[in-house]
Amino acid sequence: MMDDKKEKILILDFGSQYAQLIARRVRENNVYSEIVSHKITIAEIQKANPKGIILSGGPASVYAKNAPRCDEGIAALGIPILGICYGMQLGCQMLGATVRPTTAREYGKTACTFNTESKLFKALARDAVVWMSHGDQVVELPAEFESLAFTNNCPFAAVKHRRKDFYAVQFHPEVSHTPQGNHIIRNFLYEICGCAGDWKMHSYIEKSVSEIRKQVGEGRVICGLSGGVDSAVTAALIHRAIGNRLSCIFVDNGLLRNYEADEVIKTFKENFTIDLHAIDAQNRFLEKLKGVTDPEKKRKIIGHEFIEVFKEEAKKISQAKFLAQGTLYPDVIESIPAHGGPTVTIKSHHNVGGLPAELGFELVEPLRLLFKDEVRKIGEALGLPEELVWRHPFPGPGLAIRIIGEVTKPRLDILRNADRIVIEEIRKAGLYRSIAQCFAVLLPLSTVGVMGDERSYENVIAVRAVETTDFMTANWYRIPYDVLEIISSRIINEVKGVNRVVYDISTKPPSTIEWE
Ligand code: XMP
Repeated sequence: MMDDKKEKILILDFGSQYAQLIARRVRENNVYSEIVSHKITIAEIQKANPKGIILSGGPASVYAKNAPRCDEGIAALGIPILGICYGMQLGCQMLGATVRPTTAREYGKTACTFNTESKLFKALARDAVVWMSHGDQVVELPAEFESLAFTNNCPFAAVKHRRKDFYAVQFHPEVSHTPQGNHIIRNFLYEICGCAGDWKMHSYIEKSVSEIRKQVGEGRVICGLSGGVDSAVTAALIHRAIGNRLSCIFVDNGLLRNYEADEVIKTFKENFTIDLHAIDAQNRFLEKLKGVTDPEKKRKIIGHEFIEVFKEEAKKISQAKFLAQGTLYPDVIESIPAHGGPTVTIKSHHNVGGLPAELGFELVEPLRLLFKDEVRKIGEALGLPEELVWRHPFPGPGLAIRIIGEVTKPRLDILRNADRIVIEEIRKAGLYRSIAQCFAVLLPLSTVGVMGDERSYENVIAVRAVETTDFMTANWYRIPYDVLEIISSRIINEVKGVNRVVYDISTKPPSTIEWE
């Protein structure tokens, strides 16, 4: 946990798919938040000293046999509490209200009327839509409670305990389908918990810099750069803390996109003047991948080879005791699927970058409390180039899993050229930031085409673009037809070896984002 003096909100997770979203909403309002297990003890809460507590939603019914509960003592701590959905039902039940399954199950956008005299709904519109998703609801309120909002089917859409700072809402203020939701969360933080709002990215940078200095002392840190935003921000932050005692290793495995290697070298060696060890290992990787068609085998070979190359280079950097990793908060939170008994414990995820513990380094993980959007803000504040900070995620095995079948140099060149055109046109159309991930895939299929007077038998390029927030589920992005048209004609005209372009319109699940 973050140090106990810092202003923070604890989110007790009851298995909600939205727990991370709640945490992000709180942080977007400049208050630090942490997700913890609903099993957290009173002593642990007191030690954490939060300004407020949020009880998350969850899929269980409070009457189910193994329904997750929290220590009932939390209501007596004098810390403001906001219960959301399941968190409302549980909190209200603990305080004497009756919860029952409803006959009219509410799901989706629902009209709601708020008591705007209440601190929770201060300065809101009286009537607005909220997002509901519940089977149970509070049906009888004891006299110690007052109702703060209602919908057609739900007389107690929001309630407050008259003597305690216990508030609860049946709907989900954290999702974007509740347009006033962010305002409600802000009211909870500022009107009810009395937060000052000290979670700002520049103060995080200062704090993190001093923590890195404290951890590393006079030591040297090695950081692997992948070309992605997480490792780039990690390196920039550590560089700010310890300057030239940071050494970076960048392995060009030959499976990167066009210009990627050049960009990394330019940014870190020239702009930041970081001690950068850029290793051209293209031939090594290609040699190992010869004849391999199985995707999982490709992944294993690439992962293993990366460790070998990295180890060899790291050995040359004498006296390095520390290894930097771009571990993020979602990697740190271990969520156990709801029905197995929801719990979120803070777990050290020590293998995120694929480097084994046997390397014997002590880890430096300056991003381990951050969400991706926060990492990007820090990257911008540290002066990293915009294209790098907003870059779409790129898988470790790189283009190897975007070539169906064997990976060869000619195939990589075709794919790199096609991919460059896709990205260029998506940027030109101003779509890059609204798409979560966008790329080309090479299908070495030999489909027939006519070029001039002759038939050609050449490769297919598939274009994939998805929108998603968590990459667990994804929808295909609606790229306008005229942009698709330009992408298609440019690829067919400019990339030798391709005579057909198709657009992938599959959702995840059941399809995955990558093709292999
Ligand atoms: P899928 O294809 O599973 O992808 O829907 C979800 C996200 O994970 C990325 N991905 C990988 N990242 N190594 C990685 O570092 C891998 O082997 C790998 N496979 C998929 C994918 O690009 C997407 O962002």
